[in-house]
Amino acid sequence: MPTTALTGIGFLATQTLEDGDLRDAAVLIQDGLIAWVGSDDAAPDADERIDLGGRCVLPGFVDSHAHLVFTGDRSAEFAARMSGAAYSAGGIQTTVSATRAAGDEVLAARVIALTAEMRATGTTTYEIKSGYGLTVHDEARSLRIAAQFTTETTFLGAHIVAPEFEADPAGYVDLVCGDMLAACAPFARWIDVFCEQGAFDADAGRAILRAGAGAGLGARVHANQLRHGPGVQLACEMGAASADHCTYLSTKDIDALAGADTVATLLPGAEFSTRADYPDARRLLDAGVTVALATDCNPGTSYTTSMPFCIALAVREMGMSPAEAVRAATVGGAAALRRNDIGVVAVGARADLVALDAPTPIHLAYRPGVDVVSAVWRDGLQVR
Ligand code: NIG
Ligand code: FE
Repeated sequence: MPTTALTGIGFLATQTLEDGDLRDAAVLIQDGLIAWVGSDDAAPDADERIDLGGRCVLPGFVDSHAHLVFTGDRSAEFAARMSGAAYSAGGIQTTVSATRAAGDEVLAARVIALTAEMRATGTTTYEIKSGYGLTVHDEARSLRIAAQFTTETTFLGAHIVAPEFEADPAGYVDLVCGDMLAACAPFARWIDVFCEQGAFDADAGRAILRAGAGAGLGARVHANQLRHGPGVQLACEMGAASADHCTYLSTKDIDALAGADTVATLLPGAEFSTRADYPDARRLLDAGVTVALATDCNPGTSYTTSMPFCIALAVREMGMSPAEAVRAATVGGAAALRRNDIGVVAVGARADLVALDAPTPIHLAYRPGVDVVSAVWRDGLQVR
């Protein structure tokens, strides 16, 4: 198979412990994988050579938390919040109504548009959740559509209790654990539950995650987004790959995360768009917790697809250094998806790479709002 050499890399942020940051480096791509990493002087011959002229290169971003299967617009809700209104889980219902009424082509077109935005801003792996259907049919078709775009698909039938079950929330949990799970599991790798007042409590969450495990799905939890609660503890107890949001954390929550194989996935786009306090990433990092950054792209609380924007927020608002934020957006996201073939520049990893029109990745935070991405490779193919 033809090989491509990326040469003239001024700064290569490999995100591996062995190589760390390399100066004046080159990378060889073959069969969609990284075949060689080393000094520019020693770059092997290749069928194609691309000279990056001193630009910096890093792994493609791993967006481990996104809700992309929906339609409708909630900009008025956002504007109201910016004028002082509070966010509540109930806003999800607006998107559920619009999504149920939409045809498959409309939903797929939105996913196409949003994933194109993601690739253009350097994201090469995206997780996609269901959660705006909340019927057996609509959750299954959401996941069928999601599975056309990624292998990282997540069944989120437990986003909120479906409106038809308002008087019988236990009946909805039974549906999620029964027929809905059976219809969705073939298209899903993960199961997620929104563990929050107004959504699902710890007992319901536990039952749902256990049922998911029985169907072969790994656990993820929307945890402690709007207030202190049991979500983080539930995620750690259930061996979830990730506890997401982690906005309100007790010392017990931090200890639980530090002692578990559960990544804390921080979603600063949600705090930005709900005008909420940001999670304290510094506290998590200092306790030795693995931290990931993701967009949480969704029409209610975080309508951004941009990992560079989230990196800038993490640095400015959450106490992370630029290097820590980039790490969380790459290898941290990979850990949140229990993957070691992405999020790093290493021999054998997927050739998912981003080149910046900048000398170092610090520019992702140093130049907020500026499109510093100059090229993106996904599975070895240049997609920007
Ligand atoms: O991650 N927290 C739950 N789900 C989304 C919000 C969904 C919505 O408001 O539509 C989130 O923030
Ligand atoms: Fe979310």
